[in-house]
Amino acid sequence: MTGPIVTVEHFIAEQEREHPQATGAFTDILLGISLAAKVISAAVNRAGLIDVLGVSGTENVHGEAVQKLDDYANGVLVGILGRCGSLSGMISEEEEGFIQIPESRDPGPYIIAFDPLDGSSNIDVNISVGTIFSVYRKRSDGPRVQIDDLLQPGSEQLAAGYVLYGSSTMLVFTTGTGVHGFTLDPGIGEFLLSYRNMRIPSPGKNIYSINEAYHDQWTPGQQRLVERFRRPPTGGAPFSARYVGSMVADFHRTLLRGGIFMYPATTKSPEGKLRLLYEVAPMAMICEQAGGRASDGRSRVLDLQPTGLHQRVPTFIGSPGLVEMAERYLADD
Ligand code: AHG
Ligand code: MN
Ligand code: MN
Repeated sequence: MTGPIVTVEHFIAEQEREHPQATGAFTDILLGISLAAKVISAAVNRAGLIDVLGVSGTENVHGEAVQKLDDYANGVLVGILGRCGSLSGMISEEEEGFIQIPESRDPGPYIIAFDPLDGSSNIDVNISVGTIFSVYRKRSDGPRVQIDDLLQPGSEQLAAGYVLYGSSTMLVFTTGTGVHGFTLDPGIGEFLLSYRNMRIPSPGKNIYSINEAYHDQWTPGQQRLVERFRRPPTGGAPFSARYVGSMVADFHRTLLRGGIFMYPATTKSPEGKLRLLYEVAPMAMICEQAGGRASDGRSRVLDLQPTGLHQRVPTFIGSPGLVEMAERYLADD
């Protein structure tokens, strides 16, 4: 490796010095996420091995109970973050209600929402998966978390990030001062700064990313938009299509290369599939912090007022020009 080695711990400490509004409590959450990411990464890497060794039923080679990996990842995050002292509530894709953190006699100042394992159906076929998280300030004063603490628009996020368990494991996050990426060095077990101040290429590569199998369920505007990508006007740059089926992986490529990722409304799912609080809002904050745009097809994702913990929202995210184009096509619907 050339250049200075900066661990995520160093980096967070450095940011605290430069941005005194970041407090130690907040740092605690990011370090908790980084630890949980290492634990989940190790489990994701072993997942294939468990299959290869022919483990069946409910026990693995070590005689331990086999859990679905999303339940396992959820348990790791709840366990680590629940003890970090600076949180008073958690929202997880895997939990119907929110988690009131019991230890916090003096409630912590923050709330976190997360998708413990995104793209989990891809695990069995050795394709990248991820974890997504979003941090808010608890608004109310009392000791208990109130519903208004949980249902805040994405513009109120203090931090957002994801972990990508891919060909390498990466932690990418923003605390509102740009987007930074860290790659896990498995030899030393540390996340090392690999991308400082990530910017989404604009215009960037012409890549559209959508599950095209739902074409017949799209609105006419959505169909015309993808038709426009497939057959650009004469002289227009041609597009490529890429769709992993793990939002974290599709978004990460979009952040690095440019393009647009979409999960639109369909006749079966008029709000699309993706969840506002722990999938779309955090990615929207990261995308905007990197110079991109994130929309539900009509308006800015970060301005949406959530009405439910597991609310879904149509998603258009990526290079600003392409997301604006999507909004124009959908305006006719
Ligand atoms: P999760 O595994 O957390 O339920 O998320 C699934 C997601 C998301 O990662 C991906 O973009 C989308 O589901 C893919 O859905 P389709 O198979 O309908 O395209
Ligand atoms: Mn997900
Ligand atoms: Mn999930």
